[in-house]
Amino acid sequence: MREQWNNKLGFLLAAIGSAVGLGNIWRFPYVAGTNGGGAFLIPYFFAIVTAGIPILILEYTMGKTYHGGAPVTLARMNKKFEILGWFQTMVAFVISTYYVAIIVWTLKYLQFSLTLEWGDDPTGFFLNFLGATDSASNLGGIQMNLLFPFLIVWAIVAFIMYKGVRHGIEVVCRVTLPILMLLIVLLVIRGITLPGAVDGLNYLFQPDWSALKKPGVWVAAYGQIFFSLSIGFAIMVSYASYLPKKTDVVNSACITATANHGFEVFTAIGIFGIVGFMAGQQGVDVAEVAGGGVGLAFMTFPTAINALPAFNALFAICFFGALFIAAITSMISILQAVIASMHDKFNIDHNVATTIVVLPSFLISTIFITGGGLNILDIVDSFVNNLGIVGCGCAEVFLLGWFFKTEKLREEANRYSNFSIGKWWNYALKFVTVFVLGVMIVLNTIDYVCHGYGGFATKDVAIFGWGAILFVIVAGFIFALMKGKDGYRDLDEIAH
Ligand code: PHE
Ligand code: NA
Repeated sequence: MREQWNNKLGFLLAAIGSAVGLGNIWRFPYVAGTNGGGAFLIPYFFAIVTAGIPILILEYTMGKTYHGGAPVTLARMNKKFEILGWFQTMVAFVISTYYVAIIVWTLKYLQFSLTLEWGDDPTGFFLNFLGATDSASNLGGIQMNLLFPFLIVWAIVAFIMYKGVRHGIEVVCRVTLPILMLLIVLLVIRGITLPGAVDGLNYLFQPDWSALKKPGVWVAAYGQIFFSLSIGFAIMVSYASYLPKKTDVVNSACITATANHGFEVFTAIGIFGIVGFMAGQQGVDVAEVAGGGVGLAFMTFPTAINALPAFNALFAICFFGALFIAAITSMISILQAVIASMHDKFNIDHNVATTIVVLPSFLISTIFITGGGLNILDIVDSFVNNLGIVGCGCAEVFLLGWFFKTEKLREEANRYSNFSIGKWWNYALKFVTVFVLGVMIVLNTIDYVCHGYGGFATKDVAIFGWGAILFVIVAGFIFALMKGKDGYRDLDEIAH
């Protein structure tokens, strides 16, 4: 018998736990800040309505109807679709290997929070903390200060994964999500009451309308929605596969999206309050502080926290504690997607499936705690997000929209839902989403081919960027061609 969530609330908390992650706390503020500020909210909401919620409804319906990880679910819809599920699974696998590194930094910073001992020199993060080398291919050995927290994070994550969906993931999300909420509320209250907060908020919300004319801004909005909602690459399909058939998915999708994006914008308010405060302290432009990228969380924030008038440690714990919880609950969803894919196709025991996923991910992830780690992470993350996730998402919507009767899925979604989705849903998927994502892939590919990425050496971009994409394709093919166990077929019949 396939595992199931205890109840709908448990599922929702797990799904929200997956959605709310580094993307909300760390990615959204700088993406919004650099893409038109307040004006960015327009493409952002447009993307939520035309892609975010429709795809979430689609993936929830697929999962709960066909009861399998992405490859098996897709195979049951059409045998030829299975390969896409494996590409998605491999994208999730690659993400799991580096996502964990950011959790490791966060844990270490949580420890620093107790004493505020991260020093005032922001370059310390790169040079001392990460031992960053000058290039991605210069690994420079494992950073010993990261080794212990690395093992701890993996121990926690592995423990949850072995416990399974109901006793592991669901329990963790039930306990930690309320804590996360509390931490964020404290953070925002502190953020907006700081001197200079208004400048930060003005920067975040002041609309630069000319941004709306730039295609890149729309592309960034769709990219943010995909990453932030964890859609397009097997995650939500696998979580929904542990739902009973009678679940109201329309309502679940709306709740997940509202919670995630509400959280995202709310958190950004707190963050930009602090960014404004920081800019005032240093006498620089808000834009300068806000454009910090990765550095925003690990360089700018520690400096800002040390400059706070009071309760510095408390605030530091709120911030890095929130980051830690948000990241762990996302990490487990990424791994579960891969575990579900293995388990369902090969009909293997949960512990075996967990081991064959967690162990390789653990081994590969060690390269992200070497001196070259940050550079590799930067390259892999960019390629996997901008080509991998977007590519898989586009292929999913394209194949289902054009070669599958989405009308059947719409009926299935509506059958158990309080309020029904209209026919617009089919069109949103079939035309709008396919078009925007298609354009995104073309633009991103051209950009990578012509300009490389982020000023990194061509060789490094080839190895880690294109290499990651090649890995996804080759490994995807291998798993798709492998023969599934009998259970795979049995399950096939149950679905229809
Ligand atoms: N949705 C998560 C976030 O906003 C990120 C994530 C990516 C989660 C990949 C799962 C898988 O940070
Ligand atoms: Na998110």
